[in-house]
Amino acid sequence: MIIKERTQVGIVGAGPAGLLLSHLLALGGIESVVVEKRSQAHCEARQRAGMLESTTVELLREVGLGGRLDREGLEHDGIYLQFDGERHHLNFRELTGGRWITIYAQTEIVRDLIAARQAHGAALEFGATDTEVADLDSSRPLLRYTDAAGRRHQVACDAIAGCDGFHGVTRPSIPRGRLRTVYERSYPYGWLGILAAAPPSTDEVIYCRHENGFALHSMRTPRIGRLYLQVPAGEDIARWPDDRIWDELSRRMAVPGWELTTGPILEKGITSMRSFVAAPMRYQRLFLAGDAAHIVPPTGAKGLNLAVADVAALATALIRLLRDGEPDLADAYSDQCLERVWRATYLACWMTTMLHVVPGQDSFESALQLAQLRNLVTSRAAATMLAENYTGYAPLRYAPSTRLAPTALWPWVA
Ligand code: PHB
Repeated sequence: MIIKERTQVGIVGAGPAGLLLSHLLALGGIESVVVEKRSQAHCEARQRAGMLESTTVELLREVGLGGRLDREGLEHDGIYLQFDGERHHLNFRELTGGRWITIYAQTEIVRDLIAARQAHGAALEFGATDTEVADLDSSRPLLRYTDAAGRRHQVACDAIAGCDGFHGVTRPSIPRGRLRTVYERSYPYGWLGILAAAPPSTDEVIYCRHENGFALHSMRTPRIGRLYLQVPAGEDIARWPDDRIWDELSRRMAVPGWELTTGPILEKGITSMRSFVAAPMRYQRLFLAGDAAHIVPPTGAKGLNLAVADVAALATALIRLLRDGEPDLADAYSDQCLERVWRATYLACWMTTMLHVVPGQDSFESALQLAQLRNLVTSRAAATMLAENYTGYAPLRYAPSTRLAPTALWPWVA
């Protein structure tokens, strides 16, 4: 038996994109159902990125999600760039006239969002299986899934949001040939990431280029460090016992008079790195957001911030479409997002290739990387370019009550 239901927006995926979309839609009076294949415990525990642009922080505050973020988030003025055994500070707040970054783990945002949605009695279906979307060419697309108790549901929706990540079901359900273009690049390395019960040995995040490869020192709390090492693509984590990880982190990040504090490793894992953009981010009444539409390598921490930017635009567009009957913002959604996506794709790809070292790379490549890094720490113009892109671009607009046309993403460019 199929349980037939009805909602305004069917959302596939309960990561930050799907949950925030559901939250923003509710603020605008639009009802949604969120379907997620993993359990709630899994969603609340998975370790992901943790660096928020100030534009992301401002949006989360504006929509009532700033409480714990403001209490527990670690606000940073900028980052350190390290190369050639020297560490340089870039003060983004000063370079951008006030923008900053905040360390607050994605998993904490997911917890805050689940709590906020559940407090409002939202329909969140964790542990769903056999999720599929159908009838995409009609004005009533269908979302089908089997709930954790084994009951099959069919939800008639006015729109469906694919927030189900790179490996999700929504993007592949777009008919062949209708996703115009897929842009893709893979990198010959990955990141081995650890979460460690070791107080961070730095006040702000360190991006480090070393002949052995890239290293990154980030953090989660004043007692928990989050650190990463460049490793070859396809590396086996078994080759990295804890001592080897700490030794290599210490070697790559060494500067005179500084020591890396080590401690028990609580979690470790390897992520591969790719750039990917699917365009357009919409097919009829199916809208893709976040990793379902695009992936950036983690250097520059753009993934989560892009997902938030997508759903801020998507919520506004869907509210206008479904509440006011105006399709203009929905029609502009893909182009509007892709402008930001490409700018972030550029930043992430540039930072990645400038900071990672491919074994056996030629001396020209190495000299070019170092020249770019030196330029960044000696030219105010170059540093400002990085600072502007890193901290976020134009403010994210969530404007359910306006009747304004979408503003240009870069208002200072006529
Ligand atoms: C993190 O804190 O997990 C992090 C920070 C900066 C990055 C990537 C990840 O570029």
